[in-house]
Amino acid sequence: MSEVNSVSSSVTEDTIKDYYGKKLGCTADLKTSACVFKPGKLPLAVREAIDLVHKEVREKYYGCGPVFPPALEGTSVLDLGSGSGQDCYVLSKLVGPEGHVVGLDMTDEQLAVANKYIDYHTKLFNYATPNISFVKGYLENLQEAGLENDTFDIIVSNCVINLSKDKHTVLQEAYRVLKVGGELYFSDVYADRDLPPSIREHQELWCECVVGALHWKHLYKLAAEIGFSVPRLVTASLFSVDQKEYKDILGDAKFVSVTYRLFKLPPGSGVPSTVVYNGGIDSFEEEFQFDHGITFKKGEECHVKAELASILTNSRYKKYFTISPGERGPCKCAKLDKDPFEYCAQRGSPKGCC
Ligand SMILES: C[S@@+](CC[C@H](N)C(=O)[O-])C[C@H]1O[C@@H](n2cnc3c(N)ncnc32)[C@H](O)[C@@H]1O
Repeated sequence: MSEVNSVSSSVTEDTIKDYYGKKLGCTADLKTSACVFKPGKLPLAVREAIDLVHKEVREKYYGCGPVFPPALEGTSVLDLGSGSGQDCYVLSKLVGPEGHVVGLDMTDEQLAVANKYIDYHTKLFNYATPNISFVKGYLENLQEAGLENDTFDIIVSNCVINLSKDKHTVLQEAYRVLKVGGELYFSDVYADRDLPPSIREHQELWCECVVGALHWKHLYKLAAEIGFSVPRLVTASLFSVDQKEYKDILGDAKFVSVTYRLFKLPPGSGVPSTVVYNGGIDSFEEEFQFDHGITFKKGEECHVKAELASILTNSRYKKYFTISPGERGPCKCAKLDKDPFEYCAQRGSPKGCC
C-alpha cells in the first residue's frame, strides 16, 4: 500500500493508549507543542462554552485546533478521538438541547473522565436530558462501535487522525457515517514532506502527534479517492519542536496544525451558481467565513464554482443562502490545494502554537 493510504510504523494502539491513559496526566505533561491549542480568535459563544467545561476535562485537553464550524444548532455531531471530552462538551452547548454529540475514543482512562461529567454539564446547560454520549471504539472501525451509515451531520476530530497508521480507512469510515451534505471538520498535524520510515519509528514523537503526520498534499489525494469534496483549509498554525534530542531526529522537517473541512456530496451534483448570503448564522450575521479564502458578505451577490454550489445547496448552509443558476457578481473561488505552510508564511503565523 502507498504511503498515502497507510503509514508504516511499529507503533501499536496499546502504546498510544498507554500514552494518553497512563503517561500523560495533563496538558503540561506533553513533550512538544503539537497537541496544544490556545483559542484566540474564536466566536464569543465558543469561548464562553469553553469556559464552562469542567476543569478536570480541560486539564486533559490535547487538541491542536478549533473544531467548531458555524451553524451547529440542532445538528448531530461525532467527535473522533474525543479524549477527555472538552470539544464534545463545547459542542454539546453549541448544538443545543435538540442536537446530539457522540464522542468516540479507544482509551478507557480518557473515556472515564469524559463520562464522569455528563450529568454536571447537562445540569449546567439546563438540559432536561443529556444530549451527549461517549463510546469506546476505533476510528478505523466505526461499525464495530455501532455507528451506522449516514448518521451524522458533522464529524469533528482534533489532533487524532495523525495517530492512526491507516488514514485511508479512517476517512472512509468517516465518510460512511456522515449524512449526504454532511461535513468532516477537523484539525490535525501535517508535515511539509513524506517523513522517512526511520522517523516514523520514534514511539514518543508518534504519540505526541508529530511523526504520524502525512505530507499535507496526501490529504487531497485521500479525499478524492474516497469521494469527499476537495479539502478546504480553514486555518493553520506552525509549531516547532525545539528539544535538541527531537530536532536531531526530525532534521529539517516542518510541521503545521491545520483545520480542514471536507463535505460528502451527492455524486455529480452542482453547477456554477450565483449565491447571496442572507445572514442568520449565529455569530456570523454580517459575514460568513467559509474557509481561509472565502467570506460571504450578507446581501452580496457573487458566484461560485460547481462544487461549492453543491456544498451550499446540499448542506445545512442551504437555508442561509439564495442560490440561482448563472455566474453573476464577483467570483468567490480561491485556489483549493493551498499549501498550509505558505498560508502561515503569508499570514505571519507565530512560531509555537496558535
Ligand atoms: C491527542 S489526543 C486528542 C484528544 C482530544 N481530541 C482532545 O482534543 O483533547 C488523541 C486521542 O485520540 C485517541 N485515539 C488515538 N488513536 C485512536 C484510534 N485509532 N481510535 C480511537 N481513538 C484513538 C486517544 O486515545 C486520545 O484520547
